[in-house]
Amino acid sequence: MVSPAKSNKIPVDPAALARFKETFGLINTHLYSVEERIRAQARAFEPAMEGYVGYVCGSAGKRLRPALALLAGGATGKISASHVDLAVVIELIHIATLVHDDIMDGADLRRDQPTANAKWGNAISVLLGDALFAHALRLATNFSETEVCRRIADAAAEVCTGEIIQTQRRFDLNLSVHDYYRIVEMKTAALFAAASELGAFLSETTPEKIGALKNFGLKLGTAYQVYDDCLDLVGDEEEIGKTLGSDLRKGKLTLPLIFLLQSARRAGDHEELSSLLLAGGDADSEKITAMLGARGAIKQTVEAAEHLVAEALEALDPLDQNRFTDGLRGVAEYLQALIRRVSSGA
Ligand code: IPE
Ligand code: IPE
Ligand code: MG
Ligand code: MG
Repeated sequence: MVSPAKSNKIPVDPAALARFKETFGLINTHLYSVEERIRAQARAFEPAMEGYVGYVCGSAGKRLRPALALLAGGATGKISASHVDLAVVIELIHIATLVHDDIMDGADLRRDQPTANAKWGNAISVLLGDALFAHALRLATNFSETEVCRRIADAAAEVCTGEIIQTQRRFDLNLSVHDYYRIVEMKTAALFAAASELGAFLSETTPEKIGALKNFGLKLGTAYQVYDDCLDLVGDEEEIGKTLGSDLRKGKLTLPLIFLLQSARRAGDHEELSSLLLAGGDADSEKITAMLGARGAIKQTVEAAEHLVAEALEALDPLDQNRFTDGLRGVAEYLQALIRRVSSGA
């Protein structure tokens, strides 16, 4: 059986990478302010909390959601201080969800450093995540339109609901592709959608363009989670800088595994695969990885993710042509290149 190669063996398409860097260059000054603001949040907390907040807010995230908020703002108007505020709030919510997610996944590495739960245990980390959620919403009340705060709170609640449904359906081999997408749209795409949609909303653009950007975020965020779910199975922990393999261990039936189960039904070895999955992959994760490659389940997943990115790109059609709209395309095309890199190893 052919085992998918570790993704770090294959270079990312240099043209897509160059464009991605150019895109971040476009919003560099604003991103710099976002970064400073995020790192300064610890000061808003009691001394007892400062160290914890400083630690998780000081870690090197990719800042994808802030970039989307800023680019969406620029694509539909002028990037203003309120877009920076939005980017900060969205990233804080994201950080809060990661703190909680790492507890649930039993992960000990995030952004190349020990997770909060690995350092201080679950009790502190649950409350740290809660405090970050609360703080982000407190900051969100500063927007002059209450609608912005409401949308952010809705997105935060959606992320939690997605994570809860996912937890309820752990080790459920009947999880359908449709159920999977519903979970992913909630737990991941909702925040991408809120960043893009609200970036446009703050630029006071037309409802059509706001809707287009919401849809862009939804498709891009879904594709991003599908890509991440491939990495969890066939990625390289050192390269990615976070704990991988927890989806199998925790019984998360992600898209590659759903496709693998479908193929096993056809090949008649459904029972064997089911027991491997119900055992949480444990000693047999290599066997599952090999099957994912040999049965084409990674390839099939990559095709699904590519389709989603194509839909995200299409969603940008109603927008004006400018360098920020191009930047949004650059982000989507970079994701496309990352996704293709997974499939060239499968
Ligand atoms: C991680 O998000 C959680 C997923 C939705 C897969 P990112 O990959 O954006 O994580 P950071 O912010 O760069 O650490
Ligand atoms: C995304 O799911 C988590 C959230 C949206 C909070 P994952 O569990 O796959 O994210 P990672 O892989 O830990 O970053
Ligand atoms: Mg996780
Ligand atoms: Mg993951």
